[in-house]
Amino acid sequence: MRKIDNRTLAQMGLNPDLPKHVAIIMDGNGRWASKKLLPRTYGHREGMERLTGLVRFVSDIGIESLTLYAFSTENWKRPQHEIDALFGLLIEYFDKQIAELHKNGVRITLLGDDVRFSEEVRQAIRNATTITKGNRGLKLNLALNYGSRAEILRAAKSIVEDVNRGILLPENIDEHEFESRLYTSNLPQVDLVIRTGGEQRLSNFLLYQAAYAELIFVKDYWPDFSDDRFIEVLREFQNRNRRYGGL
Ligand code: IPE
Ligand code: IPE
Ligand code: MG
Repeated sequence: MRKIDNRTLAQMGLNPDLPKHVAIIMDGNGRWASKKLLPRTYGHREGMERLTGLVRFVSDIGIESLTLYAFSTENWKRPQHEIDALFGLLIEYFDKQIAELHKNGVRITLLGDDVRFSEEVRQAIRNATTITKGNRGLKLNLALNYGSRAEILRAAKSIVEDVNRGILLPENIDEHEFESRLYTSNLPQVDLVIRTGGEQRLSNFLLYQAAYAELIFVKDYWPDFSDDRFIEVLREFQNRNRRYGGL
């Protein structure tokens, strides 16, 4: 729920026209840890602390929707102990934060397929999404086992199935119909994609949805991405001229 008013926004150098949907590739945990000669999993723990803080700020500032890339379909290639550590942290996040998130009206959804998760992880996610289902505040969308290519294929298959069953006519397949089969179907258009950690690529994130999003790449590793840096990014977003192909 929004706690920061327009006057406070102005003090931050922001106008009230905030992006409706911000998506973040939270990258750089491992390098953050390595730089400090710590194991990568320390970086993931620190990254979870930062996630907690940023979600609070995004909710307070009144942004409608926040999508966080937390685990990609390609991240299964990592060593099993790192994967286990990441999902352990996810369970811990829900355990510790769900009460506050719920109190603040945050609605949690999963973007991704949960079949590959352990029963414990699946339960934790189902629990969080069920408890917060009716909330009207920040839409917090966790991209877990998410990959755009898999998402687009899944949408294409569901269209083919409906055509084969005779409940969808090929001539009625349009962008709206296609988008309704993406994980983001109930969310506003993605306005802004931020990637921390210095790499300048999308790594299979929101390839369809980011068609007209503004992309902002920041050098900070995710654990160092402060609220102040986020405000700077929002200022840069507000200074961009979005033309959508027009003049
Ligand atoms: C976190 O950053 C993103 C996840 C996949 C969880 P990384 O673990 O990719 O950190 P770097 O990029 O190796 O520094
Ligand atoms: C993207 O980061 C995925 C997440 C942040 C969850 P990666 O670290 O997996 O991406 P690459 O390997 O650098 O492209
Ligand atoms: Mg990385």
